[in-house]
Amino acid sequence: MTVAKRIDGKAKAAELAESISRETAALLKEHGVTPGLAVVIIGEDPASQVYVRNKKRTAESCGFHSVQHTLPENVSQPDVLQLINELNNDDAIHGILVQLPLPDHLNEQAITQAIAPSKDVDGFHFVNIGKLTAGHTSDAFVPCTPAGCMLMIEDELGSDLSGKNAVVIGRSNIVGKPMASLLLQANATVTVTHSRTRNLPQVVAGADIIVAAVGRADMVKADWVKPGAVIIDVGINRVEKTIDGETRMVLTGDVDFDDVSTVAGAVTPVPGGVGPMTITMLMANTLRSARLAAGLVA
Ligand code: GUN
Repeated sequence: MTVAKRIDGKAKAAELAESISRETAALLKEHGVTPGLAVVIIGEDPASQVYVRNKKRTAESCGFHSVQHTLPENVSQPDVLQLINELNNDDAIHGILVQLPLPDHLNEQAITQAIAPSKDVDGFHFVNIGKLTAGHTSDAFVPCTPAGCMLMIEDELGSDLSGKNAVVIGRSNIVGKPMASLLLQANATVTVTHSRTRNLPQVVAGADIIVAAVGRADMVKADWVKPGAVIIDVGINRVEKTIDGETRMVLTGDVDFDDVSTVAGAVTPVPGGVGPMTITMLMANTLRSARLAAGLVA
């Protein structure tokens, strides 16, 4: 028996991308500005290559100026910093993204902090993290994945989450921590759980909103879930599954979708939930940066 609504992130992302395309065309027509996104990829990580290809394709379909810098696995730290410096000073570029993870010899923090905060469309610079944490969300670049999750939560529950309990599973800088800040800003009562949390299923059982971002396939089960809860699944795990006697690699989230769907109010699928929204939020951040650079109110 299925009761939960399947939240269609792919359809919502496509709708948003359409309005970004329209606004991009208007920005060019009225102000002569085309949003520019530079994506830097270092090394040969296959998953990163897929993500970067999707980002480039979406940027082009929105009418952006899109550039990709592919650097070899053994590139030096000064060479990466020099490229970032050039992009910081390039007026045609409004957003800079360095795809993570980086090879071990590179200093991730020095690289992400070298990006100008005004072009930090990933929201990883300490200036943007500080603004978000201090509640200045309208003035910050918010990391794309939590920003996309928040839009889907708002669709289900509205923008004021007063009285709602939200449980975030995972405390990463990319998802867990900024997600908690956004939920708090929307007046939810927020619990951030992680690998050292005791009695996780009981903690999750009190949640009206669950955001799972741990990287453990199918971890969240129906008996963890409060009836009617809204569940956002950020996980993308590659696992072997046997379907109709045939074993193959499939993508699955951190949430056991079929199981929780018997109890929850609404759930995002994997794939087709958070992933497409993340890419579209990158475009939204880049458009916003271009509008700000053109002297327009974001
Ligand atoms: N790798 C996985 N997710 C992300 C992201 O949101 N931004 C960047 N730059 N790298 C990532």
